[in-house]
Amino acid sequence: MLKGTQYLFGVSEEDTGKLRVFTRVLSDRVYRTVVFDVVVHPEFRGQGLVRMIFDEMTSHPDLKDIEQLVLYCTEDVVGLYEKWDFTQNRDGTKIMIRKRPLRA
Ligand SMILES: CC(C)(COP(=O)(O)OP(=O)(O)OC[C@H]1O[C@@H](n2cnc3c(N)ncnc32)[C@H](O)[C@@H]1OP(=O)(O)O)[C@@H](O)C(=O)NCCC(=O)NCCS
Repeated sequence: MLKGTQYLFGVSEEDTGKLRVFTRVLSDRVYRTVVFDVVVHPEFRGQGLVRMIFDEMTSHPDLKDIEQLVLYCTEDVVGLYEKWDFTQNRDGTKIMIRKRPLRA
């Protein structure tokens, strides 16, 4: 049986522990890896922090050879992920979403 594993990639301030950049990744370590929550603290955007954690994530020994690395994003950041060879889905598969009100 494949076991899912969660990976966290981030950079925090040494003195305060405050997060500057963060992403969360879930992988079965063979077929599929899903990337969630790519966020840079507003004060630290445009300084290469996403490049740092995406370079680390995509070269991680457990993740670099996974058949499919998947994320969903808005149109304005498509060009960001293309830098790591993500492409928009053209194989006909659909994203299916079941929505419920966000829990407070
Ligand atoms: C989008 C976001 C993650 C980008 O962070 P950032 O700190 O600007 O990213 P970096 O400085 O590490 O940029 C890495 C590279 O991507 C490029 N880039 C950054 N944002 C981009 C965008 N929206 N479109 C295209 N390229 C982009 C940079 O120019 C840089 O290129 P280079 O390394 O080849 O010079 C950040 O603005 C953010 O946290 N936004 C709010 C949350 C969000 O929208 N997250 C994405 C959810 S899918």
